[in-house]
Amino acid sequence: MAEIIAILNQKGGSGKTTTAVNLSTALAKKGKKIALVDFDPQGNATTYLGLMKREMKNTMRDVLHEKIDINDAVRVTEYEGLDLIPSNIKLSGIEGYLNAQTSPISVLKSKLKNIKNKYDYVFIDAPPTLNIIATNVLTAADSVIIPIQADPFALEGMVDLLEVIDIIAEDLNSPTKIKGVLITKFRANTKLGKEVKAEVQKYFEDELFETVIPDNIKVSEAPGYNKPVIVYDPDCAGSKAYTELANEFLAREKNE
Ligand SMILES: Nc1ncnc2c1ncn2[C@@H]1O[C@H](COP(=O)(O)OP(=O)(O)OP(=O)(O)O)[C@@H](O)[C@H]1O
Ligand SMILES: [Mg+2]
Repeated sequence: MAEIIAILNQKGGSGKTTTAVNLSTALAKKGKKIALVDFDPQGNATTYLGLMKREMKNTMRDVLHEKIDINDAVRVTEYEGLDLIPSNIKLSGIEGYLNAQTSPISVLKSKLKNIKNKYDYVFIDAPPTLNIIATNVLTAADSVIIPIQADPFALEGMVDLLEVIDIIAEDLNSPTKIKGVLITKFRANTKLGKEVKAEVQKYFEDELFETVIPDNIKVSEAPGYNKPVIVYDPDCAGSKAYTELANEFLAREKNE
């Protein structure tokens, strides 16, 4: 039975998609069976993994609208062990549909049930919002990874995010665990980077991953080539960090 893990932060550009794609690919490389659910109308994870999202049929939208079973939306990627369930711009406006359902926040959860037994981990790449899409993601997830970009406002949105996590936990009577907080786009040699890291460390203590993802030009180039950075340039600092993150992730699993 898969553990379902949301990659969530309502702040745009915090490294959610980059983390979802590269952690998924790194874990698949280590022999885990992974499904990555693109639950963002931007469809960035879908493009990142090389799918032509414009002409695409059988996406998350069709799954939510009950036109197809989620298994019929699964794409096998060129990376062994990694499957993708794509989205594109047609997912925009899904909020109204979700709100009109009998259990608005549980729609995604009910759909993921049909693939849960096929994978070790199901990752959900969430869009930068805290609306009904995010509450669906949190309801479906067993745990959440929060990527934080080291900038002066990094912690500002955290309070809201943690509150929503708590509200959902209360409503469902089952807490979504914080699997880990991940510092991304980190500039080690700047005063700002050091200060933000120290602050995040103080705030999250145990939850913070020791692995930090550096600000790395190769990481920003890779999506343009439709390849995970750990495939595009396995030896760059960003790739080493994402591989290290996969190791730390698996080590945490063992200790749980
Ligand atoms: N470690 C890094 N070093 C350099 N650039 C990075 C790094 N991580 C991400 N980026 C770049 O920063 C931008 C935002 O990253 P990403 O798309 O992963 O964020 P996101 O949180 O998914 O954004 P959104 O909220 O729009 O979904 C992208 O252009 C990405 O290539
Ligand atoms: Mg994204």
